[in-house]
Amino acid sequence: MQNLTATTVPEHVAIIMDGNGRWANARGLPRTMGHRKGVETVRAAVKTAGELGIRYLTLFAFSSENWSRPAAEVSDLMGLLKTFIRRDLADLHRENVRIRVIGDRSNLRGDILPLLVEAEETTRANTGITLVIAFNYGARDEMTRAMRHLAAEVAEGRLRPEDINPQRIAATLDTSGIPDPDLIIRTSGEERLSNFLLWQGAYSELIFVPELWPDFTRETFLAALEKYACRERRFGGVSEPTLAVGS
Ligand code: IPE
Ligand code: IPE
Ligand code: MG
Repeated sequence: MQNLTATTVPEHVAIIMDGNGRWANARGLPRTMGHRKGVETVRAAVKTAGELGIRYLTLFAFSSENWSRPAAEVSDLMGLLKTFIRRDLADLHRENVRIRVIGDRSNLRGDILPLLVEAEETTRANTGITLVIAFNYGARDEMTRAMRHLAAEVAEGRLRPEDINPQRIAATLDTSGIPDPDLIIRTSGEERLSNFLLWQGAYSELIFVPELWPDFTRETFLAALEKYACRERRFGGVSEPTLAVGS
């Protein structure tokens, strides 16, 4: 952990947890076993992130495109999310974790929505790490909903088009009030965003690791954070040494 200091630990890390299916396939197991194992990795990752002082951890749990998977797998994933909240909410609350859920909440069936709301309500006043669960989330869907909302405000005469600016848009997204991710990690060797945080990730550092999500250990996490600590973020500006010359 030589490069990790309080100043280099990112405030917000977002993770695309990928590779559960391949992890299971490689062992001759059904995909659902990979998802099950993946939940254990989630627990460990939240713990590690909290210990390191990361303030926000966003986990991509289910995308708006994942509904296209076989019905049995979708139902397994829903079941796992429900079990996770039922089993872990008390522990997370005790550990002062605040839970936020992003994604489309309309048309969620059964007891999923009440459970998500309960998780948010129970932990609302907690002051530790914020665990942002991206569930039924897709960035294009999120932006579409935000644009409809702003368009409705304009149509009703409550908003002038010229008052729409990046701040206003950000405040209309599901992530309102959450800082943009400093770092987005994707596991399993795939190097794409798959519709994750397209607005918020404009200046995120991206790190792709080969490990499948069930194999993502504390060491893998720390190695990614060390790599991040060595990156220079410029946000369209110039690097520090060049600035110093002119000043
Ligand atoms: C990530 O693992 C979990 C979800 C997308 C819900 P996958 O299920 O995508 O696993 P692979 O990519 O098929 O190995
Ligand atoms: C992204 O992984 C979604 C989640 C991790 C929840 P996918 O496995 O669904 O992405 P693609 O299909 O490989 O792009
Ligand atoms: Mg995948």
